[in-house]
Amino acid sequence: MIQFAQKTQKFGEAAIREETARDHFARETLLDRSFGPQRRRKTCERLRENRQPAAGLAFAALSGGVLVGTLRFWSISAGENCDALLLGPVAVAASRRSQGLGARMIRHGLFHARALGHKAVILVGDAPYYERFGFSRDLTEKLELPGPVDLARFLGLELQEGALAGAKGLVRATGALAPVRSVSVAA
Ligand SMILES: CC(C)(COP(=O)(O)OP(=O)(O)OC[C@H]1O[C@@H](n2cnc3c(N)ncnc32)[C@H](O)[C@@H]1OP(=O)(O)O)[C@@H](O)C(=O)NCCC(=O)NCCS
Repeated sequence: MIQFAQKTQKFGEAAIREETARDHFARETLLDRSFGPQRRRKTCERLRENRQPAAGLAFAALSGGVLVGTLRFWSISAGENCDALLLGPVAVAASRRSQGLGARMIRHGLFHARALGHKAVILVGDAPYYERFGFSRDLTEKLELPGPVDLARFLGLELQEGALAGAKGLVRATGALAPVRSVSVAA
C-alpha cells in the first residue's frame, strides 16, 4: 500500500484514515442513519453493489475512537474508454455536521485520487454542496447512469484537464468484485 495513504491526518478532533474491515459495522450504521433504509435503491448503488471500493480510496473519520465520517470512491467507466471514479456515499455523523469535516474528507479523498493517478470523478449529489470542490453538471451531460437520476444532481470533476471531454454513454462499474460473504443457516 502506498505510504502516504497509510498516514492518519488530523483535522481538529476527527482524524481521517483509510478504512479497515473493522469499520464495517460503524460505517453501515452511519450510512443507515444518514440516508435511511431506502439507500440501497439509489441508482449509484448499482455501480457499487458486489464491488470493492477503489484501492486506497475508502476513508473513515474517527473522533475519540468513534467513526464520525465515511467516504468511499469506486472504479467506473464513464462511457467508452474513460476510466474514472464514482464518489460516494459520503456521510458525517449528525452531531458533527457543519464543522468542515465533510469538506475535509472530500478534499482528502480527491487529493489521494489525483495522487493515485485517477483522472476524473463523477457523483450524484447536491450541486450547491459539491460545486465548492469544482464539480459541475456540464462534464456529465453526455453520460447516462444505469437507472433513474435527477440530472441536475449528476456532476463531474476533472482531476486532469480534458479527462471527461469525450465521455459519452453508459456509466459502468469496473471495480474488483467483492468477496462473497458466507451466510450460515441453522439446520
Ligand atoms: C453532506 C454532509 C456529508 C456534509 O458534511 P459536513 O461535515 O456537514 O459538511 P461541511 O461542514 O464541510 O459543510 C457544511 C456546509 O455545507 C452545507 N451543506 C450540507 N449539505 C448540503 C447540501 N446537500 N446542499 C447544500 N449545502 C449543504 C451545510 O449547510 C453547511 O453550510 P454552512 O457551512 O453555511 O453552515 C453531511 O451533511 C451529511 O452526512 N449529510 C447526510 C448524508 C448526505 O446527504 N450525504 C451527501 C449525499 S449527496
